[in-house]
Amino acid sequence: MNTKTLNVGIIGLGAIGGGTHLKYLQSLDQVKLAGVCDLVKEKADSMAEQYKTDAYYNYQDFLEQADLDAIIIAVPHFDHPAIAIEAFKRGIHVLCEKPIAVHLNDANRMLAAYESAKLQYPELVFGLMFQERTLPYYRKVKEIVESGELGRLTRATWIHTEWFRSQTYYDSGDWRATWAGEGGGILTNQCPHTLDMYQWLFGLPNLISGHAHIGKYHDIEVEDEVTAYFEHDNGMIGHLIVTTAELPGTNRMEIIGENGKLVLEEGRLVFTKNPISMLKYSNETDQRFSDMKSERIEIEVETVQEQNAHLYVASRFFNRLLTGAGQLVAEGWEGPSSLVLANGIMLSSFTGQTITVPFDTDMFEAKLKDLAANSKFVKKQVKPVPQDEDMSKSFGSKA
Ligand SMILES: NC(=O)c1ccc[n+]([C@@H]2O[C@H](COP(=O)([O-])OP(=O)(O)OC[C@H]3O[C@@H](n4cnc5c(N)ncnc54)[C@H](O)[C@@H]3O)[C@@H](O)[C@H]2O)c1
Repeated sequence: MNTKTLNVGIIGLGAIGGGTHLKYLQSLDQVKLAGVCDLVKEKADSMAEQYKTDAYYNYQDFLEQADLDAIIIAVPHFDHPAIAIEAFKRGIHVLCEKPIAVHLNDANRMLAAYESAKLQYPELVFGLMFQERTLPYYRKVKEIVESGELGRLTRATWIHTEWFRSQTYYDSGDWRATWAGEGGGILTNQCPHTLDMYQWLFGLPNLISGHAHIGKYHDIEVEDEVTAYFEHDNGMIGHLIVTTAELPGTNRMEIIGENGKLVLEEGRLVFTKNPISMLKYSNETDQRFSDMKSERIEIEVETVQEQNAHLYVASRFFNRLLTGAGQLVAEGWEGPSSLVLANGIMLSSFTGQTITVPFDTDMFEAKLKDLAANSKFVKKQVKPVPQDEDMSKSFGSKA
């Protein structure tokens, strides 16, 4: 039996770092908390005292001095790349919060640093916290899509508006919902899971048309309501509707194939199955309309999860470090795909044009820099996040 203990550190002790990751780490047998790091000294000190570990106030000192095997990065997204790159240089494994980065150029820099560090540290692991991939309904949807049972896919429409955020939420961090501090709104903060899931299920489209509304329902300078249209190489079209301003929110995923329709909504997964392919029927029937009788099948999904989703992702990551084997929930190289969607939708919205994938990533980075440099937005007074806040409310329903 492998008796090694991993020295793990957390950088960023806010809502997710302090509120979620720190709490479960203690339950893991072969993991030792080797220190905590936050720019805010009081926060680092108080967490270090509570968890009986050392406090650090900047990540360079932490990476240099704390004898770390691995880190969890839980700071605002713009800082993910710099911290990950410094860790890779030292052979320290990284589990990075979503999104991997704000824009594709930064994500590609991280991956290049990872590949180059692997020449010296071949076992180096880079994982991402896309914990929604572990949720039972989504896993079942993926299984059905991959089984080919739906036949040729024609349309995927996802209305995912369960990401409600109040003005108080936006006012709870000076970096939040600003071009300079966050680099985007719902697509950058709440929807990386939705975007990752879309590409995980259907792959990337080759055309993106995006319509983003900036600060439509909140006093913010970034997008809080987005509708996107996608076209895929195989002819499938996709729609994504997301906002942080709907109550009650909706989570409805419709996947249509020639053999029927799969709908996930309100904890129900229903497959309405055609007796023959719609395409075959359409070509061969002598009827002008349809008299096809489809069968409605409610698919049972085992919804009991053994572990909290974040803990599950982290356990798989630590298991890989301990055993050198086993699959991660999401590998670092999978991170850019959700940014292709997020950046592509915004680029389309900014330019008023349909975007062909791959697109000019320098153009997007330059646009972001320009928005940050020319921002006239004045952030409201920052209301700190309560330390004991229940973060599970931030994720919406489990499907
Ligand atoms: N996987 C999920 O479901 C999930 C949920 C929430 C947040 N997140 C991600 O986690 C990250 C943090 O989000 P949050 O809501 O916890 O933010 P937050 O503002 O609550 O906390 C961020 C913390 O990082 C600290 N910090 C900032 N820059 C730092 C740096 N350079 N070095 C050290 N500490 C630094 C801040 O002082 C703060 O304590 C974001 O990228 C976000 O997208 C993921």
